Amino acid sequence: MRVLLISDIHGNLPALEAVIGEAKRLGYDTVWCAGDIVGYYPWANEVCEWVRENVERCVLGNHDAVIAGLVNPEYFSSSAYEAIVWTMKNLSEENKRFISSLPVVEDLNDTLLVHDTPLRPMSMEYILYPQQALEVLQNAERRFTVYGHTHIPVVYEYSSEGLNVYYNSQRVELKDNARYLINPGSVGQPRDGVPLASFAIWDREKKLLIRKRVDFDKERVLKEVLRRGLPPELGYRLFEGY
Ligand SMILES: [Fe+2]
Repeated sequence: MRVLLISDIHGNLPALEAVIGEAKRLGYDTVWCAGDIVGYYPWANEVCEWVRENVERCVLGNHDAVIAGLVNPEYFSSSAYEAIVWTMKNLSEENKRFISSLPVVEDLNDTLLVHDTPLRPMSMEYILYPQQALEVLQNAERRFTVYGHTHIPVVYEYSSEGLNVYYNSQRVELKDNARYLINPGSVGQPRDGVPLASFAIWDREKKLLIRKRVDFDKERVLKEVLRRGLPPELGYRLFEGY
């Protein structure tokens, strides 16, 4: 089985379309999403509908959790706050119900799917440094954890040989004697300085992770951000990849 791993789409339909196009070319059987379907960009309904139809397993992100009434967005940055208030007003009731029905974690036998961290789901902590990854890998109950939240693609591998970090490798061969933390990066708002949408395809039989970046129509996103009255910096930041 080949699993398309995605996260942090954030209502960015042009980026999602670019990812699907490239992923279809590579081939996949199913889709798992590590949350944050909405927030920031204006295609919240379209992205929700695609997720409902195409994603086999999806967990709640912190922006989604605002829609579900589980998180107060007070601590959000001002542009994130404005965007989630806009999203709340513009999302259909059916899509709100769908988001509210999402679980915080999905336990998939050898894999845990979660938005932020498997140790404290919905704490909104960021796994940003190898030391934090090591703590998670030493304590996680499952051999694989797929997560998002940081918008930075990375794979942490932990075995008796210690911790190994894959930042940019396009192919990661998964070893039988190791545990993994896999972040496929963000579809809708990359934050590693690379202005490209990010995703991964996990070939379970071949024990291989293929990581990809793909360009998308950032002008189209900017135009729509301005037209819908969302904070302009949400459009401009995409050109910088953060
Ligand atoms: Fe996010």
